Amino acid sequence: MSRISCSYCYCTARNPESGTETPDLRDLRSFLQLLDDRGELVRISREVNPKFEMPALMVQLEKAGKAFVFENVSGAAFPLTGGLLSNARRLGLAVGQDVSGDYDHRDHARVYREAVGKPQAPKLVDTAPVKDVVLTGDEIDLAKLPVPTFFELDSGPFMTGAVGISFDGEHDKLNMGFYRGLILGKDRLLANASSMSDLRRIYAAAEKAGQKMPIALCIGVPPALLMAASGKTPPGLTELDIAGGLMGQPVELVKCETSDLLVPAAAEIVIEAVVDPTDTIENTLGEFADQYGPETAPIATVTAITHRSDAMYYGLMAGRNPEHNTIGAVSAYGMQAAVEQALRAQFPNIRDINVAIEPRLGTMLHMFISIDKTSDAEPFELIDAAFAADAGLFPVNVVTKRIVVVDSDVNVFDLDDVEWATWSRLSRADKIRTYPDVHSWELERCTDDNQTSARVGIDATMDMDKLDKLVRPMIPGAADIRLEDYLD
Ligand SMILES: Cc1cc2nc3c(=O)[nH]c(=O)nc-3n(C[C@H](O)[C@H](O)[C@H](O)COP(=O)(O)O)c2cc1C
Repeated sequence: MSRISCSYCYCTARNPESGTETPDLRDLRSFLQLLDDRGELVRISREVNPKFEMPALMVQLEKAGKAFVFENVSGAAFPLTGGLLSNARRLGLAVGQDVSGDYDHRDHARVYREAVGKPQAPKLVDTAPVKDVVLTGDEIDLAKLPVPTFFELDSGPFMTGAVGISFDGEHDKLNMGFYRGLILGKDRLLANASSMSDLRRIYAAAEKAGQKMPIALCIGVPPALLMAASGKTPPGLTELDIAGGLMGQPVELVKCETSDLLVPAAAEIVIEAVVDPTDTIENTLGEFADQYGPETAPIATVTAITHRSDAMYYGLMAGRNPEHNTIGAVSAYGMQAAVEQALRAQFPNIRDINVAIEPRLGTMLHMFISIDKTSDAEPFELIDAAFAADAGLFPVNVVTKRIVVVDSDVNVFDLDDVEWATWSRLSRADKIRTYPDVHSWELERCTDDNQTSARVGIDATMDMDKLDKLVRPMIPGAADIRLEDYLD
């Protein structure tokens, strides 16, 4: 298996003798190299069709926990890589964490929050790998990219791993996020911005001002940027500052060829475009929670494509698949922190809170809270307070379907344990409450015409007068007894 080679690959800075497992954090391909070294990368050299055939293989590879490179995609000038950040351990590995133990989302949330607390402003550079090749005018042809058509009813080929950079005039800063991009023609595409995204507000401001606006879709950016793009930023920071915090060094940015936007120097490919906010199209893609989602977005005309000489296209398998959901889970870290801060002040007897983005449970978030309860009224006081809480930049109840309160012997990070408690401790009908007609985000596709739907609260705690029943069987001292000590 050949090593990834290129004139600009930062991974050569890694000392192969040192035995460290830290990729250079400044580019995606260095991380790819690390996965290759660890035997976690599969290369497919046989020609594959980007429409349906490649996605069918991507699903199987992700299921097997493999990162992948499709080296020969029909009609395309670039290979496609993906399946890189398909679990929390890979998130940690990609930003230089020690993942030798049971590294999970709680560990990565801590790393992410530390990065938010130590942001690093990006740094402007003059030259960049992504400027190896600059294509403008007739040289532009999006058909050369290996963009998959994922599902039967999708509107066409969708770019899913691109992060979009735009300028937020209201806050005088760059804005970055994931926006699924439909290819419409040789030099036309669109970037979908959900109702809760800053980009939607930026599109609206351009439309109000009667102006077209630049956008840059950056493909194959360093992993820290993928993580930072997933979520919201606290006021005063950009996603690029948080990516710098995760990398422990500033993100290097370079100016676009056809606009003043700045883009990651280490990206594999950058598509520069101009959006006409008045010219919109409805389009459909199979989404992360296993449903189709129609969106409406303005059309953009491509003004330049720049790329590394040996560029790789990065594509995330759409739908309910691990990489999409693992990166998406990063967006819940900020919400978890905001909710914890709001609720712990009011309920000091809370043990743990898990704000779960869990594709097994659909599009909406679920919140599991354990308490050392002091009264039977307390679980619903807590549930009501949690639904009413501020999740950072929007109310909890818009995106949260269900809140379950359990006793402190239940592990809220183990969905099986929460299920066990629900069906073991639900003594009365009034321990399940439904909340009708709550405003919802558009990704909940089952809402009524007013965009409202039901919420559910469950008190899965033992009643105070039955606390001595259903005590869980425990083995005293079990935590200190290790099987390895008894094996030859
Ligand atoms: C893989 C992936 C795909 C996403 N696709 C979209 C999308 O198409 N449109 C969107 O608005 N948000 C999408 N998101 C969520 C955005 O990244 C998130 O809402 C982000 O906060 C948007 O950035 P902004 O609010 O700064 O504009 C996606 C997230 C992930 C992880």
